[in-house]
Amino acid sequence: MATLTILSIFIIYIAFVLGLVNSQGLDVEYYKKTCPNVEVIVKKAVADSISSDATMAAPLLRMHFHDCFVRGCDGSVLLNSTKSNQAEKDAIANLSLRGFQVIDAAKSALEKQCPGTVSCADILALAARDAVSLINGPTWKVQLGRRDGRVSILSEATTNLPTPFDNFTTLKTTFGALGLSVKDIVVLSGGHTIGVSHCFSFSSRLYNFTGKGDMDPNMDKNYVVQLKTKCKPNDVTTTVSMDPGSFTKFETDYYTLVSKRRGMFVSDATLLTDKQTRAYVLAQSFNGSTFFQDFGVSMVNMGKIGVLTGKSGEIRKQCAFTN
Ligand code: HEM
Repeated sequence: MATLTILSIFIIYIAFVLGLVNSQGLDVEYYKKTCPNVEVIVKKAVADSISSDATMAAPLLRMHFHDCFVRGCDGSVLLNSTKSNQAEKDAIANLSLRGFQVIDAAKSALEKQCPGTVSCADILALAARDAVSLINGPTWKVQLGRRDGRVSILSEATTNLPTPFDNFTTLKTTFGALGLSVKDIVVLSGGHTIGVSHCFSFSSRLYNFTGKGDMDPNMDKNYVVQLKTKCKPNDVTTTVSMDPGSFTKFETDYYTLVSKRRGMFVSDATLLTDKQTRAYVLAQSFNGSTFFQDFGVSMVNMGKIGVLTGKSGEIRKQCAFTN
């Protein structure tokens, strides 16, 4: 009996190690029988949106990240506030999220074909992948089977999302607490090869870095001058592309920018302060970059954070509301 138990524990262990069973119970073929067209349907909604406005890819990628970092990848970023509760959506960092209508379009198409089957959390994970691959980025297999959470709290988003002013130690703590590695930090930060930022997310680096009217010495001086022409002090509306010239194309430019001290945020610049992340940044600027492969791996890692599976949570009928 004891031998049998030890043997079965050993077999389960090997299955985990080989990745046959995902520790979170996710599976790339999760909807194979229950909703075989799920990938086609989500991709169409994302492609429809991006083909009319290429800037939509970036917020869709960011939305999945903001979902996963707060209560895990459970679709909680999509929930609307109620009379008695302010949701994650209303946190300052989430006010600049866009693309909720793309997720809703995918969800309503899915509800017609396979009602009550595909979670909003999974739609987010697929949409992020499709958004990246549709703008020349890498693709990867998305593990599925997440269920939707019923709770979304503004203050949790404020506390758990990294801020653009975070230094490396803080990033390491935040990402580490979610099971992500130092490599995941530097690879996922490469998401900033697309998209825009509001001036207020970095203008203290231009005008008042230490409260003495100074600039951040870790930003290239010429870049500071350039950015100052776009962002006046206290500007709360202007947006600036994070990868000038190709902010709607996914490539390795981000690392070239960071290596030239032209990363937009302190959290980007700080990647040059750690030995491992610095080496990664410098290596990506050359031919033979591993960024595309790495990005898929790290996105899969991020997509596993705190997922609800089995009987936990629910499959929402509409992504903005619990059932
Ligand atoms: C390392 C910690 C991170 C910090 C501190 C951070 C911070 C920010 C900030 C402040 C913005 C600009 C918001 C605005 O002012 O409108 C932004 C934009 C963006 N972030 Fe991050 N981010 C981080 C990691 C990530 C990750 C892991 C991803 C995805 C893999 C990501 C993807 C994006 C994208 C695509 C945008 C552009 C959004 C748009 O154009 O609407 N970021 N990020």
